[in-house]
Amino acid sequence: MAFDAEAARREFPILTRTVNGKPLIYLDSAASAQKPRPVIQAMVGAMEHSYANVHRGLHTLANETTEAYERARQSVARFVGAAETEIVFTKGATEAINLVASGLGQSLKAGDEILLTEMEHHANIVPWHFLRERQGVVLKFVPVLDDGRLDMAAYADLITAKTKLVGVTHMSNVLGTVNPVAEIARLAHAAGALVLVDGCQSVVHMGVDVKALDVDFYVFSSHKLYGPTGIGVLYGKAERLADLPPYQGGGEMIGSVALDAITYADPPHRFEAGTPPILEAIGFGAALDWLMKLDREAIATHEHALYHRVREGLAGANWLKVLGEAPGKGAILSFTIDGAHAHDVAQILDRYGIAVRAGTHCAEPLMRRFGVTSSARASFALYNTEAEADAFVEALTRTQAFFA
Ligand SMILES: Cc1ncc(COP(=O)(O)O)c(C=O)c1O
Repeated sequence: MAFDAEAARREFPILTRTVNGKPLIYLDSAASAQKPRPVIQAMVGAMEHSYANVHRGLHTLANETTEAYERARQSVARFVGAAETEIVFTKGATEAINLVASGLGQSLKAGDEILLTEMEHHANIVPWHFLRERQGVVLKFVPVLDDGRLDMAAYADLITAKTKLVGVTHMSNVLGTVNPVAEIARLAHAAGALVLVDGCQSVVHMGVDVKALDVDFYVFSSHKLYGPTGIGVLYGKAERLADLPPYQGGGEMIGSVALDAITYADPPHRFEAGTPPILEAIGFGAALDWLMKLDREAIATHEHALYHRVREGLAGANWLKVLGEAPGKGAILSFTIDGAHAHDVAQILDRYGIAVRAGTHCAEPLMRRFGVTSSARASFALYNTEAEADAFVEALTRTQAFFA
């Protein structure tokens, strides 16, 4: 059955507002998605009815809140097909990658290689640069083809016995390219390397089963998944998390502490030092519970249909250059307009009430690869409609006329 976007959008109070006197058309969900009522209510409900710190109290509110926090972990585990003990709550995808890089880095030596791709978000580049700067670890990058696909032939050549980890985005936040992660993992494991997948964009638009993909680490953020900011996920295979040293020290992550010795808690708590983002976990769990009740295949079909509607609407536009044409790509449209800076395009679209992203999208190496300094990006979510897609086409055409 077709996805009912109108019904879904009624769950998002913010979508009723206006911007510059026009109804808001929010096409920036790849940066951060809006929040549905179940998320808002779960967080407000916790603050109004049952809130305390988790894992340390013996009173009713502490127990209830601990249960709610751990229920959120169960929802995340169900969402990606993992065991609960394999789900670590972090501040976001960025922190999850830093956690792995810092832990793994302790056993890497000069000359060891990390293989990334040219289409990574800075979150999956910079933490590895730390290891290059500090320890002489060598970074290599799989090139991107002109249509936005990963060069898999080059990947097969670049992976060697020195490769300790392959880090790859499941879906590019700029190109929309969906990478063949299971195949990448198979080749990496055959070479003895671990695999970390940045799932920030993919988890939003497709069902993900980390066991079927057979990856070692999979990271994502709540705020792109209709949940709150301040919380994200590191999935790690049980044996990988068991091998990983702690990231931060403090309360909750210990077994016991003496003045001259320390033992650590088992994963996932070993990696959750200090008071965690409790309310955010509760909101995140509510977002996933809500999302898992919807027909996710129908949502993906709906989002793709919006993308193609826009592409068809702009079919004759010879002033438009699209970044990323890979077959099966996600519903992300990154583009430049001849003679116009992306920032100006975004600001003019804002006058029409349309929110798009403009800049480097935290992917400077990819921008360089395509010979641009910035691009504008429209990203489609479950609450966008055909009427919004048409309004975007019309506003973009008028925007271009401004520069012509
Ligand atoms: C592909 C990708 N990776 C990583 C990130 C970083 O996520 P966060 O800022 O939530 O840690 C983003 C966010 O834009 C992203 O799109």
